[in-house]
Amino acid sequence: MRFCLSDPAGPGWEAEPKSNTFAGWPAMRGLGRYYELLVRCRGDVDPVSGYFLNIRHIDQAVRQAALPHLFAVVNGPGGSSAVAMGALMRRLSELIQPALGGSVESLRLALTPFYSLEIRSRDMDQVLLRHQYEFSASHRLHVPAWSEQKNKEVFGKCNNPAGHGHNYKLEVAVIVSIDPHGRVPDVSQLDALVDQHVIEKLDHKHLNTDVVEFRALNPSVENIARVIHDLLEGPVAGVGSKLDEICIWETGKTVCTFRKSYYA
Ligand code: NI
Repeated sequence: MRFCLSDPAGPGWEAEPKSNTFAGWPAMRGLGRYYELLVRCRGDVDPVSGYFLNIRHIDQAVRQAALPHLFAVVNGPGGSSAVAMGALMRRLSELIQPALGGSVESLRLALTPFYSLEIRSRDMDQVLLRHQYEFSASHRLHVPAWSEQKNKEVFGKCNNPAGHGHNYKLEVAVIVSIDPHGRVPDVSQLDALVDQHVIEKLDHKHLNTDVVEFRALNPSVENIARVIHDLLEGPVAGVGSKLDEICIWETGKTVCTFRKSYYA
């Protein structure tokens, strides 16, 4: 679901003609806020209709139960930066769940195109925080033990002796606890760890020659994902969170995800 929270909300936004939900409804008015909410439900498919849920019911549940609450919170006392995001995610889930017969498995609020919070119904004491980053690096795909010909056959242009570059996009997902005040750690805490342990090490480097982790390891996108995971796992645990997964895009079409274990 895509929607905008304009400030002030004003009375009767629900009565605005509902059109173009693709771009978001309620639509943007003035300098409002745009969000996306991803509702994941699980259940059995009806053998006759072929439906598990009518998606209109999900739409109604979000817009009737969650949006009024979000409007109130955004326009509430203390300003939007004072909102306890863990408590908010928990409340949104609680508001939507009854309208969908308890089928909501997770709720993910994309606060920007690069930052989201997700709460899962089976564990309402934690939130999955995802944040994106970028770095530029060059690499050469090459296995020294192979012949020149085999390297060329397997890696093609990626075996070019002088290397080649990518603008890598990185998404880091961490599981953070909701504290007794309903708060979760600020995303700047994760930013500092990623800057220190990943970006400083990889950005504007030649991975094969400048980064010790790749001296004897081919810097494929798979291995880069694993190395970044290993670089971050300890520091993230050190601040009381848990690294969930690393996604790294080598191009807009090539992405690799590394995770050690599935969220339990
Ligand atoms: Ni490459």
